[in-house]
Amino acid sequence: MVWLSSSLALAALARALPQGGFGGGGGGTAMLRFGCSQVVIERLDPLVNPGLNPSPHLHQVVGGNAFNASIASTDVSKLATCTTCSFDQDFSNYWTANLYFKARNGTYKRVPQIANQGLNGDNGGITVYYTSPGSKQTTAFKPGFRMLAGDSMRRKSQGLGKNMQSCFRCYTGPNFGGNVASPCFDAKLDTETFPANKCPGGIRSNIIFPNCWDGKNLDSPNHMDHVAHPEGGPTSFAVVNGKCPSTHPVKIPQVHLEIMWDTTVFAKEDWPTDGTQPFYLSTGDNTGYGQHADYVFGWKDDTLQKAMDGACFGATCKGLTTQQTKVKNQCSVKNTVNENTEGWLAELPGGGNGV
Ligand SMILES: *[C@@H]1O[C@H](CO)[C@@H](O)[C@H](O)[C@H]1NC(C)=O
Ligand SMILES: *[C@@H]1O[C@H](CO)[C@@H](O)[C@H](O)[C@H]1NC(C)=O
Repeated sequence: MVWLSSSLALAALARALPQGGFGGGGGGTAMLRFGCSQVVIERLDPLVNPGLNPSPHLHQVVGGNAFNASIASTDVSKLATCTTCSFDQDFSNYWTANLYFKARNGTYKRVPQIANQGLNGDNGGITVYYTSPGSKQTTAFKPGFRMLAGDSMRRKSQGLGKNMQSCFRCYTGPNFGGNVASPCFDAKLDTETFPANKCPGGIRSNIIFPNCWDGKNLDSPNHMDHVAHPEGGPTSFAVVNGKCPSTHPVKIPQVHLEIMWDTTVFAKEDWPTDGTQPFYLSTGDNTGYGQHADYVFGWKDDTLQKAMDGACFGATCKGLTTQQTKVKNQCSVKNTVNENTEGWLAELPGGGNGV
């Protein structure tokens, strides 16, 4: 278990997993955890607004370089020629809204993203997890598969208690406050809405995708109906074993995204004086309830299935290869939206009108 000593984060996450033989093969839990650097930041959304340039709100995108305004519903692993993810075989795209800070004078600035614990050198981006309760217990996605988690228009709680689909953690000190474990089900640390306090160690976002599938459709009109959460609500590591509903009987790997926002870069004198929190999603959402994420599957051939069945754990996996951080950081997509998203902005890109 060499990886345990090389990554505190992983060790902590492993404690949150169900009991049973992870890491050693033999039917154990699989949990890939790897970094994907930024591939582009732009106002496109090939899932919700295919072909529309610009789309309503800004996204931060990671993964393969086949990302554009209308990703073809074919095998994107054959369209992309590089990826910002550490596994060479993963040409998928993952994207979420950006986070902005609103200064006391009313202007907005994008919150930078930083590398997660154990993923030093990543250029911002997203930490991606794929989890399976055991060998042959999940069916990997098919080429053309895509899905959406969360609802950009939501402004109140889903009422799912500690089985939240999306959450934020407020870090009280440097190095992520020493606590990178248990995404979304630590009722003391995780909130479905933006943290109310100033977070001197930054803010973490977690978004958990459904892990049950109808077994037929690669997509659906709202990009959600072909997938479902297990009975009992959106899952988390602790309940990755949850039973799939009869409407969506096929268990797929649980995809889970994690983002580290460096909220420490903003000067004291720019923070609001009345204690209100200054963060906005790029949609204009000031609550955080509208946090959402998009996924377009793009693993090469059956590599993801092999990783899930092989009880792979962490950022290495027998049968998969990895690229050096400096190499993956060079993969990028040309920004095709002609607008400024950086510096102090009078309004959010696209106006931040809530959609
Ligand atoms: C997106 O890329 C595909 C090929 O990968 C291409 O056929 C299509 O025209 C591109 N669409 C846009 C809007 O650039
Ligand atoms: C607003 O505040 C930011 C941060 O202090 C500052 O850089 C910017 O110049 C200010 N803009 C205006 C229009 O006052």
